[in-house]
Amino acid sequence: MKADPLLKLDHFPDDGLAEVEAVVDGDAESLLLFRDGDRVRAWFNICPHAGRRLDWSPGRFLRSKDGLLVCAAHGASFELGRGECVAGPCRGEHLREVAVEVRDGAVWLTAGD
Ligand code: FES
Repeated sequence: MKADPLLKLDHFPDDGLAEVEAVVDGDAESLLLFRDGDRVRAWFNICPHAGRRLDWSPGRFLRSKDGLLVCAAHGASFELGRGECVAGPCRGEHLREVAVEVRDGAVWLTAGD
């Protein structure tokens, strides 16, 4: 079975955020992707505070002036290096990371096992 990439890098500007739908461990999930130069990090699009989506509309994320990701529900702020909440109602908690890799100009889920 041939997998499709999550996103092509030429549609994903540096320092950008994107939302994609993907099947992870058999479940359809919304994922949040963050591009940091040649690297991409991914997390489930689920806030650790109350389990809401982080975007206010699919793929539309709030950023603070200093680049933090701000949850649209109650304003928890996450730094995008480790996905840690650094301010707001779930301070100290983390977004749940999903393993992805960059290959052939696109972002792919890292194959399990
Ligand atoms: S659900 Fe994100 S801050 Fe409450």
